[in-house]
Amino acid sequence: MTTSAGAPVADNQNSLSAGPRGPLLLQDYQLLEKLAHQNRERIPERVVHAKGWGAFGTLTVTHDISRYTRAKLFGAIGKQTPLLARFSTVAGEQGAADAERDVRGFALKFYTEEGNWDLVGNNTPVFFIRDPLKFPDFIRTQKRHPATNLRSPMAAWDFWSLSPESLHQITILMSDRGIPASPRFMNGYGSHTFSFWNHDGERFWVKFHFKTQQGQRTFSNAQSEAVIGKSRESYQEDLYGALQRGEFPKWTMYVQIMPELDAEKTAYNPFDLTKVWPHADYPLIEVGVLELNRNAENYFEQIEQAAFSPSNTVPGIGFSPDRVLQARLFAYADAHRYRIGTHYEALPVNAPKCPVHHHHKDGGMKFFSTPTGSAEAWYEPNSFGGARQDASVAEPPLRLNGDAARWNHREGNDDYSQAGALFRLLGAAQQQRLAATIAASMAGVPAFIIDRQLGHFDRADTSYGELVRQALRTAGIEFKA
Ligand code: NDP
Ligand code: HEM
Repeated sequence: MTTSAGAPVADNQNSLSAGPRGPLLLQDYQLLEKLAHQNRERIPERVVHAKGWGAFGTLTVTHDISRYTRAKLFGAIGKQTPLLARFSTVAGEQGAADAERDVRGFALKFYTEEGNWDLVGNNTPVFFIRDPLKFPDFIRTQKRHPATNLRSPMAAWDFWSLSPESLHQITILMSDRGIPASPRFMNGYGSHTFSFWNHDGERFWVKFHFKTQQGQRTFSNAQSEAVIGKSRESYQEDLYGALQRGEFPKWTMYVQIMPELDAEKTAYNPFDLTKVWPHADYPLIEVGVLELNRNAENYFEQIEQAAFSPSNTVPGIGFSPDRVLQARLFAYADAHRYRIGTHYEALPVNAPKCPVHHHHKDGGMKFFSTPTGSAEAWYEPNSFGGARQDASVAEPPLRLNGDAARWNHREGNDDYSQAGALFRLLGAAQQQRLAATIAASMAGVPAFIIDRQLGHFDRADTSYGELVRQALRTAGIEFKA
């Protein structure tokens, strides 16, 4: 054992004291350093998605999609790209129980030869809001009440009932899939519309899907309560344990592809995060297999310090006009600089596995070198060589138009059809469970808020509203409408 300065340690069991019963000496630097380090062991937890579970793995391409994208990770059948996955709940803090009803994060970092591509999605294909200005308000309703410091079903249903665009996501959250048995048994979705662009400069809109090969397994509220009663760490146990046993979970990766100009024709806004693209219109195209096969050796270093950002893309993969995606391009790297530090991208888990050449300079924890090709090339342009931009990876122009204004995102948007379609495909037994789960979550919510929300269920499908009313009556929860 050594000190952090590398000197050998003679005694790590006994502090340095004046006599066997006397006080300690200030010169016991080993003691001071241990206490000081302990005081600095915590970094801020993620402001959302604080509780998480992760592992390393690979993506293996099984089908050729190179006509849509020039991204090298999709360049050949059989091509393998190493990756890190981190799954999470959204609202719970770092110590929250794993098996709680919540949306699950499904974040992937692909270490490609052209830099890291991060796909920071969820286990749902849609989201609660379509305008990022509402994200901090929405998250406030999922976290703790300022006075009681308790979660508030009233705030959640108040916000949702005033934000009908949330209905589709609420329906998934309250359905059987709202509590996956573990991350192995859930799908992942990029959720947003992204874009692909190919060698000819053609752009396609794209959605990403990862379907679990383990099958869907979910818990009812009662099952999750029983699981949490025994272990708050059931996901960590399941995922870590499976990988240790050599049972490597797999997902089939698919894309949906929309030709660029179709976006002007679809009845729904294809950049609206509260909508899916129906499979019948844009079928799933198989891409490859994602496998997780290696546990982290150190949870803090490799999972807690992992920094995923939708802004990390590679040539061939681009963004879209989805405004929630646009806001996320700012939010994540900003969060990482605060949560981890200026040079978070140089930490081994975040560092690209390809050469990195940039001119960002100095700053806290600059422990790595960034060779720029020449000792004199520490600015750009310069006369001395070194790293240079490469026009061959330039993205084709993104067609945009429109007058700048605060357009009402609720105007002219159908918040009900897709939620209704989901309700109808669930089948009678699952519809009953959905209604019972919704009713249970409304305990203590004032009747006028429940009434407002019942109007939204009715508009999705009259049987949806009726079933929730029945479930509310059974649960003895008051409503008027
Ligand atoms: P399809 O019949 O082609 O697909 C239905 C989809 O619903 C399947 O992907 C299925 O997933 C999924 N599903 C089944 N149960 C649930 C649940 N409890 N929560 C969430 N998803 C579930 O229909 P469409 O493409 O026309 O879409 C109809 C509705 O299906 C949509 O409004 C949407 O709510 C939902 N859906 C659609 C997706 C899409 O990208 N089109 C993706 C996921 C859901 P699986 O195949 O794994 O069983
Ligand atoms: C985590 C912001 C919407 C998925 C985070 C974090 C922030 C954030 C700040 C913490 C990042 C960190 O500290 O590392 C936002 C904002 C959103 C938004 C501002 C909308 C305006 C979404 C959506 C999805 C999503 C729509 C999924 C489709 C995730 C996931 C994580 C995360 C999976 C955890 C990543 C990890 O495992 O480290 N979000 N988010 N978020 N978010 Fe979002």
